[in-house]
Parts: sequence; C-alpha cells; structure tokens
Amino acid sequence: MSKAKSVYVCRNCGAESAKWIGRCPSCQEWNTYIEEVVTRAKPADALVAGKKGSSPVLIGDVEAGPEERMVTGIGELDRLLGGGIVKGSVVLLGGEPGIGKSTLALQLAMKMEGRRVLYISGEESEQQIKMRAERLPGNNTECYILSETDLGNILTHAARVKPAIMVVDSVQTLTTGQLESPAGSVSQVRECSAMLLRYAKTTGIPVILIGHITKDGTLAGPKVLEHIVDVVLIFEGDSNYIYRLLRPSKNRFGSTSELGIFEMMESGLKEVANPSELFLNRHDEALSGVAIAATIDGVRPFMIETQALVSTAVYGTPQRSSTGFDVRRLNMLLAVLEKRAGFRLGTRDVFMNIAGGLRVTDPAIDLAVITAVLSSNLDIAVPGEVCFAGEIGLSGEIRPVPRVEQRIREAARLGFERILISKYHRKTVLPKNGPEIITAGKIETLVKHLFS
Ligand code: TYD
Ligand code: MG
Repeated sequence: MSKAKSVYVCRNCGAESAKWIGRCPSCQEWNTYIEEVVTRAKPADALVAGKKGSSPVLIGDVEAGPEERMVTGIGELDRLLGGGIVKGSVVLLGGEPGIGKSTLALQLAMKMEGRRVLYISGEESEQQIKMRAERLPGNNTECYILSETDLGNILTHAARVKPAIMVVDSVQTLTTGQLESPAGSVSQVRECSAMLLRYAKTTGIPVILIGHITKDGTLAGPKVLEHIVDVVLIFEGDSNYIYRLLRPSKNRFGSTSELGIFEMMESGLKEVANPSELFLNRHDEALSGVAIAATIDGVRPFMIETQALVSTAVYGTPQRSSTGFDVRRLNMLLAVLEKRAGFRLGTRDVFMNIAGGLRVTDPAIDLAVITAVLSSNLDIAVPGEVCFAGEIGLSGEIRPVPRVEQRIREAARLGFERILISKYHRKTVLPKNGPEIITAGKIETLVKHLFS
C-alpha cells in the first residue's frame, strides 16, 4: 500500500488542493474545502466512455444505430428520459431526503415485470425493502435485492446476477476499498460513480444511481456527480404537499424541458396525467382575489390558481408577502399598478399565494397576479370561466408569452370560456371550439374588461 496522503477537496465541485483554501479557485465558492485522506492503491482510471486506446475515426465511418432504449413502465419517467432508459447509461436521481427517491426506484424495479432487476440498497435492510415493495404496485418476480455498501462486492454480485438494469441507493453510502476516506466523501462518491459508469458502459446495463442533496447542499456528491453521469433527474416537492415534480437537469439522450408530475400516495407514487386538476379547484361561487393563470413549466401547460389578499395596512409600512411567487416580482407589479394604472396600493398590505404549494417562475402568470390583486382590492370577483396568460412590462403593457397556442389549447380542454392574452401576439393557429380570446395591450383595458 502506498503512503496515506491528505488532500483538500472542494465539496462543491470536487477540485483538489494540497493545502486548505478559503475560496475555491475553480467554482468560486467560499469555505468548501474539506480534508480527506486518500490512499490510492493504483491511480484512478480515467473516465472512459469507449474502449481504451482507441484512435480517431471519421464521423462518417462510425456505425451508429438508434440508441437502444428500455421502457421502464412508469410513463412519466419514460417520457422524461426521452422514451425509455438508454442501454449503458447512468441516470442520477437526486433530491432531498424523504422526497421519494427510493420509492420511485423500487417502484420501477417492481414494475419491470419479466426483466431482471438488481436493487441495491446501502440504507435499508432486505426486510425493509420487502415491506416497502409490498405496498407498491407491480410484482416483478425477477427483482433481486441486495443490502450492501461495498462497491467491489456489488460488482461481483452484479456479474453473477446479470441484471437488465441496476439500481443503487444511494451513492453516498458506497465505498470502494481503493480509498480510505469515509462513505459520502467527495473522493468516494467520485470514484464509486466513475466505477459504476465504467461498469454501465462496458456491460451495457443501465444504472440508476440515487444521490442525496441536503437543503444547504453541504453533503458531498451530486455536483461532482453531474459531470460524470449521462442523465440527472431532480426530484422536487414540498413534504407538506402530495405532489412531486421530477425534472431533468441534464440529459444526454433527450430534452431537459420536460416535467414529470407524481402524487405521493399510500401505495407509492402515482403518475399525474392531468396536472391542471391537481392544482385547480373550481369554486361554486366566484370569490374575489382569485384569478386562474395558464402557465407552462418546461413543455407542460397547466392551470394554476393565483390568490391575493389586499387589506388596509395596520402598521406604517405595508406588508408584502408571497408564497410560490417571487416577492420582488410582486413588488414590481404593484409599483406598475400604482404608477401606470393609478391604483393606490402604497398603503395596503398585499399577500399573494399560489394554490397547491407550487413555485411558479413563468412570467406569464403576471397577468393573473395583477388581476387577483385588483379583484381583491376592488372586492369584485373575476368570473370563474376566464383565465389569463400574459407578462407585464414596466410601462404597464401586457406582453406576449411563449407557447400561447399550447396554453389556449389547455384552457379549451378544461372548458374555460374566455382567455385574456396580450394583443401583441402574432396570428396564431387556434383550436376550434376553444375559448373566446380577449386581447389587451395595457392594464387599463384589462380593468375595463373585467371590473366595469
Ligand atoms: P423515500 O422514497 O424513502 O424517500 P427518499 O428515498 O427520497 O429519502 O420516501 C419518503 C416518504 O414517502 C416517506 O416519508 C413516506 C412516504 N411514502 C408514502 O407516502 N407512500 C409510500 O408508499 C411510500 C413507500 C413512502
Ligand atoms: Mg431513500
């Protein structure tokens, strides 16, 4: 064995240094260097995607068929991956603890009926996995489970089982005997994932790798991992709500503008084919301060409810608070309403909420936000069959938004009778029997339409 050596590793980007540095010269983050003891029995292999010692070839001479994909049986996941998991690829499934990563991975293992799956967990015992699996749909009799953290043993077992797909939960629990640093350290995470990548590339067996991300991002891992793996899927959501969003942040074989939506149920994760119904509740009577926005996340259109409450400020400084919507953007919209449309909101408290606990960054919901604010301020309800899609500019103009046809089609599907959009849209192809389209160029026109 060679002599133990100590290096300092940036836990954000994985850069190494012989001495401690306050600020990482590579990723510019402060105070991210931690000491790690490294013993390398042999130098780490380079990350090779192809054969060793290959020489350059002309691109025209490379024979390439379509990527071979394996359908997982979880429709939302297959769509995100671009039509199934590519043979020999490594998919990183990241997210905060408790969000449902293990559930999704095990559900996938149980759903792939007739195909051999090796599910490795370094966090749960075989009994625990079995108990969890019993609550999930699917009954794959060819699903092998293994409770193990040593990567060498894992690869030995994998060679014997010869699975069609392998799941590793989680990368932070893996260790390889080649390094002395503890599980979860940057060097272990990097080395183990590189070894798994090599395994996937040489055998053609896809590997799903689970990785934790803590709230403050202190744990070593996913940042370093992102460079190594082929696909990164991030699981998001609020544990107080049942919905979970799965978002690709990197995909070598498909688009990253997809969005998968799941509901966390008693019996595992359920795919949500119709997100509007999850986020929209139709009220029997029209309420003031509520407006429906036709929003798009990635490529998925859905309707969400924006709610506002405007009341007289009790203290000298009015309060502005917002859930699910950027509060600085809310302040800007209120300033526009004050300056361009003459609404005196400077002495009023304004509270904003996006129903369902979703965080929306699509600027097309501006129009619904200001409509909700005006509706609450005037205490006049917005008719329930109207929805909105428009961005507000600083001069009070209603600006066009991308993919407006898709939003209108979603509004038509949900039976909205009218949709309010910017008048500056170029001619668009509109669905037949769709909602009546009302266009407005300025906030004043909107006010005239709705509140007079
Ligand atoms: P889990 O998959 O263990 O999270 P992670 O692997 O990301 O840390 O799931 C966490 C939560 O999901 C747990 O608090 C309980 C809940 N859950 C359900 O609601 N229904 C189920 O069928 C399962 C298996 C879990
Ligand atoms: Mg887990």
